[in-house]
Amino acid sequence: MLRILFLISLFWIGCKSEPVVKEIISEEGKTVMAQNAGLASAHPVATKIGVDVLKIGGNAIDAAIATQFALAVCYPVAGNIGGGGFMVIRMNDGEVATLDYREKAPGSAHRDMYLDAEGNVIDRLSIDGHLAAGVPGTVDGMVKAFEKYSKLKDWKALIQPSIDAARNGFNISEKQANGFNRTMEKWLDLNTRTNAFTMKSEWKAGDLLKQPELANTLEAIRDQGEDGFYRGWVADSLVAEMNRSNGIISKEDLSSYESVWREPIEGTYRGHSIISMPPPSSGGIALVQLLNILENYDLPSMGFHSPEAIHLVVEAERRIYADRSTHLGDSDYYNVPREALLQKEYAKKRMKNFNSQKATLSSDIKEGNVSKESEQTTHYSVIDEQGNAASITTTLNTGYGSKVVVGGAGFFLNNEMDDFSSKPGFPNVYGLIGNEGNSIKAGKRMLSSMTPAIVTEGGKVKIIVGTPGGSTIITSVLQTIMNIVDFDMTATEATAACRFHHQWTPDMVFEESECLGEELSKILTEMGHKVQSRGKIGRVETILVNADGSKEIAADPRGDDWSEGY
Ligand code: GLY
Repeated sequence: MLRILFLISLFWIGCKSEPVVKEIISEEGKTVMAQNAGLASAHPVATKIGVDVLKIGGNAIDAAIATQFALAVCYPVAGNIGGGGFMVIRMNDGEVATLDYREKAPGSAHRDMYLDAEGNVIDRLSIDGHLAAGVPGTVDGMVKAFEKYSKLKDWKALIQPSIDAARNGFNISEKQANGFNRTMEKWLDLNTRTNAFTMKSEWKAGDLLKQPELANTLEAIRDQGEDGFYRGWVADSLVAEMNRSNGIISKEDLSSYESVWREPIEGTYRGHSIISMPPPSSGGIALVQLLNILENYDLPSMGFHSPEAIHLVVEAERRIYADRSTHLGDSDYYNVPREALLQKEYAKKRMKNFNSQKATLSSDIKEGNVSKESEQTTHYSVIDEQGNAASITTTLNTGYGSKVVVGGAGFFLNNEMDDFSSKPGFPNVYGLIGNEGNSIKAGKRMLSSMTPAIVTEGGKVKIIVGTPGGSTIITSVLQTIMNIVDFDMTATEATAACRFHHQWTPDMVFEESECLGEELSKILTEMGHKVQSRGKIGRVETILVNADGSKEIAADPRGDDWSEGY
């Protein structure tokens, strides 16, 4: 124990760490200081479309709707109309709302649909191809958000810029070209018809991507609202696509889809209020559980990325992800012990066996007693001139979802069915395991980790944050909030800072691209942790409202992400 403490102090004296990738901060489009309003998203075209809506008098929700459609065009890896998502809203009068437009299991889905006759999970059946798709929720979600909160009251104006971008095309980035080329083989394998993405056999940076079929679909939505997607020729095309292979989404599934306004998860952390997404996301509950635990420790005096701080956060994550695997699921179908999990007292009890010097084995942690893919999802954060805020995370699940493009309608279908537990204890693509609470059932929503969040202080919006990243979403949002609240970082610093992640199983601390460094990894290993370097973790979009009312809009330096404001 003495040796560990000695090492900790040596390390800490030796490198009062400078956590931030400084050179990135000056990169164009990554940070904007705005006096009035702004937005950060995964793609410059989507950000510009959203900010234009703010400038013509739309509120944060109008901008969010326009950005959702824009991402479906210019960020097809995760932006979507064939998937789903969650929107967290905080109006300037204090009203809070959360909209669940998560996909649902089709009517003929059933618990064992991904198992063979021996009861084994069939490799990739819930990930690639038609059977992986859940009933899309995005379009219904956008209609519901528009009906309840639009200030502009001009549905067509919110969609037209995306129709134009789809029809006229836009120049893809190098990262996008690489992504397209990497996925080409799967696209060709899983689609019987040529589409906008398979028109070329090889893509390069700057190529113009035109999507005329998607433009037609968006026009149907523009002119007929949700009927333009869930009924009529687009719905017919989707069902015809299902019939080209083993898909099961029916016309009845489409016409009966409903997104839902749900009661937000609310918590507190060191004088701040947290608002986030309830089930079917695990994100809001897990985030508040983690903050409830961390509030009992003096993180600021431990220091950013000190071994003590990382050890503490990892041990909290280990316990909360164990809870997630048993206690979380779609609350319309499963009794989630929401209030019990959120209690501050429960957080204290959960850390009773915490040893500040030594890692606990995940095998010694069970859920508390209460009554792997490319992690492609996308997040955007927006604030308008009146101080209304929206935090939206939306997804097809893994990159390009099921990789199936609806023939004639030009949009990707999700592979969200993999977020269900195909079999108790069997890991999904993110290595997350689940049980009865997240078993497959017709009409049920699959458990998510998406954690769009808004943090307020003194009754005013302070932070709007979220990220993609599969199972790492919750811990990336947590770290961004900690970076600002506990370590006094700017939004830009908090967004750029190196991240780490633990999710109970596998029993491993994942560090981003070796950024914790050899020394720190060694100390953590001495404490009993297994540390593994992996690729980038998350793409966070953060808005920080300063005390003087100015807004720092920070787009993640890890991708093509873009912030704008005025
Ligand atoms: N598909 C990723 C998530 O919802 O967590």
